[in-house]
Amino acid sequence: MPRYEAFIRTNAGQYTEYMKLTFISKLGDGATADVWLATDDLDREVAVKIVRQAASGISDAMAHAKALARAAHPNVVAVFAIEKVADPQSGDEVDAVVMERLSGKTLDECLAGSKFSITEVRRIGLGVIDGLAHIHSQGLEHGDLHERNVIVGDGTIKVIDILYRDSLAALSPSSRAARLRRDLTSLRLLLQQVIFHSELGAPQAAELNHRLDSGSRLSDIKTVFLEVTDAANLTDAGKALDNAYARVLDVGFVEGDEYASALSTETGTGLIAALVERIITERTYRAVHRSYLTALWKRLKKRDRQTILEHLGKGLTSELPNGNWRPLLGILYAFKKEGWQGLKAAVRLRVEKLLIKDVLTGHVDVRSPVSFGPNGRLGSFARLFWPYFSNPKDLADNIISMLHQSWYTQNYIGKHFLSALPRLAEATATEDEMIDALADAYRNDAKVIVNNLEELPESWLTRVKKRRRGMVEDDP
Ligand SMILES: Nc1ncnc2c1ncn2[C@@H]1O[C@H](COP(=O)(O)OP(=O)(O)O)[C@@H](O)[C@H]1O
Ligand SMILES: [Mg+2]
Repeated sequence: MPRYEAFIRTNAGQYTEYMKLTFISKLGDGATADVWLATDDLDREVAVKIVRQAASGISDAMAHAKALARAAHPNVVAVFAIEKVADPQSGDEVDAVVMERLSGKTLDECLAGSKFSITEVRRIGLGVIDGLAHIHSQGLEHGDLHERNVIVGDGTIKVIDILYRDSLAALSPSSRAARLRRDLTSLRLLLQQVIFHSELGAPQAAELNHRLDSGSRLSDIKTVFLEVTDAANLTDAGKALDNAYARVLDVGFVEGDEYASALSTETGTGLIAALVERIITERTYRAVHRSYLTALWKRLKKRDRQTILEHLGKGLTSELPNGNWRPLLGILYAFKKEGWQGLKAAVRLRVEKLLIKDVLTGHVDVRSPVSFGPNGRLGSFARLFWPYFSNPKDLADNIISMLHQSWYTQNYIGKHFLSALPRLAEATATEDEMIDALADAYRNDAKVIVNNLEELPESWLTRVKKRRRGMVEDDP
């Protein structure tokens, strides 16, 4: 490109002066502008941003951009002048921003490269945080903070492309606050990306997200960012998490409340959410863990509970009905009624329907040592969850049908539901039908029911036996 010269008006005190710019080459382009490398009349390199006509509209905010230009900050690109200039390509008079020339890559380009070390994460993150804090302190918003508007140099982090738009001061306090909040949301997302693309990785990125919300102030974001990326905290926390998880995996894990509460007191509060998440992700829950998970659940913060239930709900959705749902239902059961009710309604109703439906496939042959495969396994979990069901009557109806069906289906109900029947019948007003159906199974000599009849309360026992006699005419 041939050298091109333009004059730019600058206001120095009460005089208007003209600065001669020599355009050398294009440095970059973005959505709204081309940025040129140029030299000024003292032969210093500058970057000149030529805002395309269509995107123009910056002149209104000139005063504010000038405020920014005056107040220098190491993490915000320095602006020397904002004026009209003739476009080096079209010759039209356009708005131009004359800035310090930066070297480095955009953060966006860095995010496509190799992972950041913890030191780099902190250098970049703190640079952007401090830069944005400075912009806000000048009564400006950034308005478009993202990875392409941060330049990472060897020793510098610079926020660029501040919207020289309208004045925040002229806005109502509420819309002013909304604008600033939007910058903070962008900042949180940007920090999350940076942490994610580092050796800290997804867990710490999630941690940052857990600990901040739309009400967080810039100072909160800075504090949490520093904590989440603190190498000392991290290695200790990482080790502690690995230890806690190793104990969960231990084949010698002791069942019961006593061990569970002892172990729970040894599990650091900051670890609980990550530990439970890991048990869910890896599907490593076994029945012996139940009391421990109940103890951990009680200690979880409300927000962490929500996140964990979302995670669990997603797992259930993908594993039910034919995948590895067993550890997930076990965990859900450990979280009791509150866990069940905290699931998204669509997930909860689907689980309920699947459990109830699967009862109808149950089949137990007590004479055969061979297991009959997966049928009815899922359904057997209905014994645990039915008190939370929105429609337990459907379950009661299925059980009654199964008790009338065959020796095998009767034994299935006997094996999985016998002791639960009185309460279920009471809750669904199906006592008479249930007792009738049980008498049917008893008469049919369904072994599991006959052998375990004493699990039923006295009143049920007499009624089942009486009903049986009444139905079988030649019974002595
Ligand atoms: N001061 C500068 N020094 C060097 N390159 C710059 C400078 N400012 C912007 N650039 C380059 O120009 C690109 C577009 O600039 P930007 O201000 O973000 O414009 P847009 O509003 O079009 O997004 C940047 O991504 C960067 O590569
Ligand atoms: Mg940009």
